Amino acid sequence: MKFLDLEYIELRADGREVAFSHIVCPKEDAPTILFVHGFPLDHSMWLGQLPLATDASLLMVDLCGYGQSPTYHKDMTMRIFADDLAELLEHLGIPKVIFCGLSMGGYIGWEFAAAYPDLLDGMICCNTRATADTETVARGRRVAAAQVSKTGAKPVADAMKEKLFSPTTLSRDPELVEQICAGIRATDSETIALGQLAMAIRRDHWQRLGEISCKVLVVAGSDDQITAADEMLKMSLMLNHGTFVEIAEAGHLSPAEQPEAFNRAFQHWFGSSQTG
Ligand code: MLT
Repeated sequence: MKFLDLEYIELRADGREVAFSHIVCPKEDAPTILFVHGFPLDHSMWLGQLPLATDASLLMVDLCGYGQSPTYHKDMTMRIFADDLAELLEHLGIPKVIFCGLSMGGYIGWEFAAAYPDLLDGMICCNTRATADTETVARGRRVAAAQVSKTGAKPVADAMKEKLFSPTTLSRDPELVEQICAGIRATDSETIALGQLAMAIRRDHWQRLGEISCKVLVVAGSDDQITAADEMLKMSLMLNHGTFVEIAEAGHLSPAEQPEAFNRAFQHWFGSSQTG
């Protein structure tokens, strides 16, 4: 399996460790993109974005409990994840980032935008939504959390395989599919349970979208079964400076499934926002 070599910082609050890779771009004034993975994944879902290092510094993390950050908070919330990331930026002396979150990473992004607006140079919201769970979805998550403690992560990986990828990725990129599924299988079942419970109680940010003042690129996958592209288009229209892009032949993991299209969309959006 492919991973980057990661460094660690210890969080002041309770000694949990966050693993990260910081690839610094030599260009003066290059922005830093903070990549925040979805559930229950890790930094390796962003390996297709490494070519962006010619234009931007890249900061890829494993959230606490995921990937190579094994220690987790037992009452995890989206806000605690956002606080962890702000502490990482402080530790590294990074004053502002373009926050790029996928799905659960996007839920964390809304909390980050509400708590730390001054740390934002922009946002990229991939395959995510701003609404909270309905009661039915939240109940399903509580059931899933109770089940995973008994079954372990393998059935979760098997079920997610059907939902995460586009038909194109499933037939043409078995290596990516296996890399992602192996990562899910390796995730601690307690982390998966806590992640479900944390997402079930996340806040609704839909009405606050108009308060976000930075530019936001909203990236959808044409074949995303978890977060439909038309819902993401509506979300982008609620933003002051939203740009919507739909990536063809991509499911829920559009940056990993179609990295070249995603990277082109970033470069176009970033280039045009620099020129006006
Ligand atoms: C994710 O990819 O992070 C999950 O699909 C988010 C969710 O379960 O809502």
